[in-house]
Amino acid sequence: MSSHGAPIPMTSRACGALTGTAQVPGDKSISHRSLILGALSVGETTITGLLEGQDVLDTARAMRAFGAEVTDHGGGSWSVHGVGVGGFAEPDQVIDCGNSGTGVRLIMGCMATSPISATFTGDASLNGRPMARVTDPLALFGTQSVGRSGGRLPMTIVGAAGPVPVRYVVPVPSAQVKSAVLLAGLNAPGKTVVIETEATRDHTERMLAGFGAEITTEITDEGRVITLTGQPELKAQHIDVPRDPSSAAFPVCAALIVPGSDVLVPNIGLNPTRAGLFTTLREMGADLTYENEREEGGEPVADLRARFSPDLKGIEVPAERAASMIDEYPVLSVVAAFASGKTHMPGVKELRVKESDRIDAMKVGLEANGITVEDGPDWWTVTGLGHGNVPGGATCASHLDHRIAMSFLVLGMATQRPVSVDDGGPIATSFPIFEPLMGGLGAAITRSNG
Ligand code: S3P
Repeated sequence: MSSHGAPIPMTSRACGALTGTAQVPGDKSISHRSLILGALSVGETTITGLLEGQDVLDTARAMRAFGAEVTDHGGGSWSVHGVGVGGFAEPDQVIDCGNSGTGVRLIMGCMATSPISATFTGDASLNGRPMARVTDPLALFGTQSVGRSGGRLPMTIVGAAGPVPVRYVVPVPSAQVKSAVLLAGLNAPGKTVVIETEATRDHTERMLAGFGAEITTEITDEGRVITLTGQPELKAQHIDVPRDPSSAAFPVCAALIVPGSDVLVPNIGLNPTRAGLFTTLREMGADLTYENEREEGGEPVADLRARFSPDLKGIEVPAERAASMIDEYPVLSVVAAFASGKTHMPGVKELRVKESDRIDAMKVGLEANGITVEDGPDWWTVTGLGHGNVPGGATCASHLDHRIAMSFLVLGMATQRPVSVDDGGPIATSFPIFEPLMGGLGAAITRSNG
């Protein structure tokens, strides 16, 4: 179930060196898309390595509600019998997407050009997030929507019975918005064109091509111009989901700040639209290497090796890199606390509309643990204290945000005093094995407050 249970306070304290191998779960973005594109295909899509986090399980449930047959074979192995493009049935219950912005926005897109209605809801975090960024472009297809004030869930989407193709310039750097428009374009006749001025993760484009859609991307003066020919017959595929660089970020960053650590994180997808954090860490002086670099399923993959890095330096993170590391800023700010000097992070206003306002959530928690943070509408700066000098000792609010909870638990692994989070429950949305995995490396995380 996606409803959030009783809070689970957690505490992390300094431990010995982190060592060993961290097998992080499958990529969340690709897992959602595997289920959704499987449901829109003809035939049986098989998936291995699916992330079985709550966000993705909620998408699996939603695909069943729209008529696809989704089966869990155990151990990350799933199959989806799709209904084909335009074949969605009208769900007879409200679709609860839990905590997942990706889930709800992509699913709104893929039902928006079918003559059915669906009502969407989520948890308190998701129900506070902006949906107009998706419903505005969907309206161009002829889709109607009625939600709460401020374009918030719960919201009913009335799909367009006679959709027209659209040409849309995405006004915010958001792969969710781009993907929602492309998925809606699948069931519109003619060519739907989506233009993004800043490149965001391109899994939807790559996977649509893999499922047999006619889709092209051209780099022009306007930006990335993506053209999709509507009403294709998508063909079922086998998908081996690569491991998630956004989850790899946590053991990697922990290893960099805990003395003596040496951690291997194998098989991490290093798609350039996702790998900005690792470039940034190396610029800060991190001992982070790519081993066994190779290509798998058309995506660059490597084993990451992270070792304790006592001489990290604060840097200016280029604004144009933001989209390729947007989910990693919270844990980067933790590493920045152990660097010497300031780390300035501009161009990040999207962080304010994630599962929480991530700049604010990290600023309040870092300050409570003795770190100075300055911020503006679309930037923030962390003043590092250098290795061994970060006090810790506070309890931080996780605001129903998995990445905030995990970031503060990483912080506590190298502070002078333990760091607690009020609720580690949301970690299960994206990284359900976080506690045993980090514990296996030597981290000391307990389910208690202080
Ligand atoms: C995602 C896109 C990003 C990212 C999210 C996953 C996706 O969100 O933060 O975790 O899978 O398309 P935005 O589209 O809001 O940038």
